Amino acid sequence: MNRMHLKVQLSVTLTALLVLLATGTVQAQKFFKANPQINPYNFSVVKEQSYNNAAVTSAHPLASMVGAAIMQQGGNAFDAAIAVQFALAVVHPAAGNIGGGGFMLGRKADGTLIGIDYRETAPAKAHRDMYLDAKGEAITEKSKDGPPASGIPGSVAGMFSTHAFAKLPMADLLEPAIELAEFGHVLTEKEAGGLNSQRADFLKYSAAASALTSKEKWKAGDTLYQPELAATLKRIQKNGLAGFYEGKTAELIVKEMQYGGGIITKADLKNYQPKFRKPIEFDYKNHHVITFAPPSSGGIIIAQMMKMIAPFDIAKMGFNTFESVNLMVEAQRRAYADRAEHMGDPDFWKVPTASLVSDEYVKERMKDFQPGVAGSSKITLAGVPKETEQTTHFSTMDKEGNMVANTTTLNGSYGNRTIVAGAGFLLNNEMDDFSVKPGVPNMFGAIGGEANAVQPGKRMLSSMTPTLVTLNNKPYITIGSPGGTTIPNQVYEGLVNIIDYKMTIKQAIDASRFHHQWIPDRVDVESDFPEATIQALKAKGYTVTKRGRFGRMDGILINETGKLEAAGDKRGDDSVAGY
Ligand code: DON
Repeated sequence: MNRMHLKVQLSVTLTALLVLLATGTVQAQKFFKANPQINPYNFSVVKEQSYNNAAVTSAHPLASMVGAAIMQQGGNAFDAAIAVQFALAVVHPAAGNIGGGGFMLGRKADGTLIGIDYRETAPAKAHRDMYLDAKGEAITEKSKDGPPASGIPGSVAGMFSTHAFAKLPMADLLEPAIELAEFGHVLTEKEAGGLNSQRADFLKYSAAASALTSKEKWKAGDTLYQPELAATLKRIQKNGLAGFYEGKTAELIVKEMQYGGGIITKADLKNYQPKFRKPIEFDYKNHHVITFAPPSSGGIIIAQMMKMIAPFDIAKMGFNTFESVNLMVEAQRRAYADRAEHMGDPDFWKVPTASLVSDEYVKERMKDFQPGVAGSSKITLAGVPKETEQTTHFSTMDKEGNMVANTTTLNGSYGNRTIVAGAGFLLNNEMDDFSVKPGVPNMFGAIGGEANAVQPGKRMLSSMTPTLVTLNNKPYITIGSPGGTTIPNQVYEGLVNIIDYKMTIKQAIDASRFHHQWIPDRVDVESDFPEATIQALKAKGYTVTKRGRFGRMDGILINETGKLEAAGDKRGDDSVAGY
């Protein structure tokens, strides 16, 4: 440690001590004392590394290091996932959360698959037209901003369900997050910038100022202390599920709702239930892909797209060439058309999952694909099956052969920007993922209809796509990403990059991306997308739009020598850890 770091650390520790003495909450730093290799005041991003035993990749270096340490001290990939989820709620408040929801996909060493749906649900008082004005027009801010935008949070319940597959006590898995909140952590440039950009909204949409607004202008290197969040996490540590869904935390959430016109009640919170979902499985060129079922659309979409392109020799077409992008985009168009029409919460809408991913249906959908020709979303509509920018992804793998892919979200960056007064955490704006009115696009430009209309207790349709791959029935890849409707396309392209183009996991994750979601009928490409391909696509009649960057994909792959290759996306602070 150099002198400057030592000085910074001394003053930070002193401040922490003063804060704690003042609030009377001094407690021993159990986790960080036992793990001096992790320094919340001085850490760096590690983009790529191979490990012998266990690996984590997540949106924040501290969360990844916490997960690795948990596995080193006897936890498995599920323990690590829980600890990472809670740590991200502290160090990556834009998307890490306890006030949001997500999907945990796991494969145990014995091959058992686990899909835990901890997606938010619509409150009991929600109704179909709740985001329409008297004239029936959509009030799109209402599903995005402040308390009316929140679904009932599922993350804490999701972690308790995940705990059935873990080895260490839940209290130990919450401990690192508690200490990060209580004793503070140093902000990266991206995290500081994120907080600054949302400051006005935090103050506008919350009843009170909070730790996140305690400074006018955050900069990299500042320490963020979150004593209220630490207290909330401690209530969960002490009282389990009731520490969040009942008692003081529930009271504070409901109070915030009353202040900001939200409709979540104490009963809503107490009644929240995560659900086990049977994962979607399919084969692609000798690889077995396992991914998430509805209420996420992601699994069906990638199953459809990968089956549509499976008959083609994509490697021969070349990476991001006109030929390969033309094929892959036309698969995207068809799958996303089906998303808008057929997908929603399976407990409320009969989603014809088996038909949508069946070989015959997928083949039929690609029958009118003409290589070299730009399709049109006016002509390609949803099929008729026979039967009736913020989220975060992390992956963990352990030496026993357990693997987890977990994607979790508040929906928009920092969710509805409401920080629950006295509880110190952000709430989601997941209600915007419902179709507030048929044909009215949500914040990701996605449209939907009856299948995804608002109903009390219903889960809004997601695009999150936590995905696992096995090869010869052995763990091979765990991968996923944020990015709203671009997520299934990112995972699809990432897997094709590895399987067809033989890229390393890091190359596959960093490679330039493209995205088509049926409507708008447009190919979005990242800014470093090959210009020649853009021109060739335009020449054939595609509308092509350059769009910054999408997603922050994180993945781990076990290579032929048995090493765990962990990779964090170049697009964020994403960082790997392991041992
Ligand atoms: O569930 C979904 O599909 C969205 N709520 C995900 C939001 C997201 O990925 C935002 N990230 N950039």
